[in-house]
Amino acid sequence: MYNEQYRPQLHFSPKENWMNDPNGLVYYKGEYHLFYQYHPHSMVWGPMHWGHAVSKDLLHWEELPIALYPDELGQIFSGSAVIDQHNTSGLKTSDEDVMVAIFTHHGEDNEKQSIAYSNDRGRTWVKYDGNPVIANPGEKDFRDPKVFWHEESQKWVMSLASGNCIRFYGSPNLIDWEHLSAFGSEHGAHGGVWECPDLIPLPVEGEVQQKWVLIVSINPGGPNGGSVVQYFVGEFNGVEFICDDAKDVVKWADFGRDFYAAVTWSNLPEPIWIGWMSNWQYAREVPSAPFRSAMSIPRKLGLLRVDGELRLVQNPIDLSPLYKEALLSDETLTLRTSESYQLKLDVRQLFAKANVLESTASEFVISFKGEQEQLEIVFDKIGKEVRIDRRNSGQVSFSEKFASVDTMPLAVLEDFTFILDKTSVELFVNGGIRVMTEIFFPLESPFTLEYKAVDGEVRLGNAAIYQLESTWK
Ligand code: FRU
Repeated sequence: MYNEQYRPQLHFSPKENWMNDPNGLVYYKGEYHLFYQYHPHSMVWGPMHWGHAVSKDLLHWEELPIALYPDELGQIFSGSAVIDQHNTSGLKTSDEDVMVAIFTHHGEDNEKQSIAYSNDRGRTWVKYDGNPVIANPGEKDFRDPKVFWHEESQKWVMSLASGNCIRFYGSPNLIDWEHLSAFGSEHGAHGGVWECPDLIPLPVEGEVQQKWVLIVSINPGGPNGGSVVQYFVGEFNGVEFICDDAKDVVKWADFGRDFYAAVTWSNLPEPIWIGWMSNWQYAREVPSAPFRSAMSIPRKLGLLRVDGELRLVQNPIDLSPLYKEALLSDETLTLRTSESYQLKLDVRQLFAKANVLESTASEFVISFKGEQEQLEIVFDKIGKEVRIDRRNSGQVSFSEKFASVDTMPLAVLEDFTFILDKTSVELFVNGGIRVMTEIFFPLESPFTLEYKAVDGEVRLGNAAIYQLESTWK
């Protein structure tokens, strides 16, 4: 079980069949719930259900029975879940707090918002008999409700993707919703349809103020093609989101091609999100079996002022419970053109990090190399960018969109962290202000991890590399 050729060992994937967006992320009584867009009858997208998994630590997951099935109102598209602690909905029937899922019913001709509730910690679900709770106003794309309790205005607030903007709705009870405002038709990137919003408060690191961050997935239109997540920083006054930045400012959460539909867990004191680790450009063709797609590593979120601009900061949750062997523990490494650092490995499950103490090299390169194939991460000091080159990373021909060299702007490399799993690498740079997530499908098993300097020297401090245990044990 869970040991197929392309089965991620550190990331959640369903036992079998198709998965896309994370849905209904909510924490309750020691359990992190992860629902997800799921097609239980096929390896490609089809009539959508909500699959379900739970975890006590966000690392080890247990798949549970399907939570929501399509019905006469339509398929079950993306949405969120909340704990209705004060029973504002009146749907509580047991000693447990009632968990309420708010999702899109995707009918043949329209999309509308509905709810379902569970009184047994998410194990069984009842759809509300007055569905839908928000009818379609005449919009083709009208979906992916994400709900939170807004303390200041004492109501539930829903963000909803509606064509080329995000609409906000308010409700006292999760059932009766009032339209509040719309944001974004003139802001940010519009290369594709807006999907999967999330609105969260985040403190600015080292400052007293808190800002509101509006997260919006967009497909296509990413900087490297296809699906991508953008975000806006501003204020939310209970009615409107007011963006701090000029209309043409675009902020990408992750420059890689495989981080989409990311949203945060509800009912947690600290913001943590997770994304779908694929891209609509080729998700249906990736060569894994008997399942398609995995989620990212859950990531902690923050906001940091960098050169006067507020940036989202992402860092992986603590992976130390999975440390198996330290291959390198907090050492200093000097890399010269003639002298690279190499580690031969059999298992592709690593957590690595280092600070850059000094660099005279034009490029610093991290690669995962087989006899015939390799994935390369190039930090190009002169071009001021990071490139992930997966053109020769193994199986690439399943889609003409897949083989690529993807880039991310970066002035100076200060530190890096990466998580390597069977079919993915997640790269966090400079304390997490720049992130890239990419999947790949190597043909060979043993590989060499190499750190190398081009035209000069790179000195790394606190360089650590840990082999990680599989989370499926
Ligand atoms: C995003 C998305 C959502 C939709 C779901 C359908 O990937 O297109 O907008 O609810 O997938 O599976």
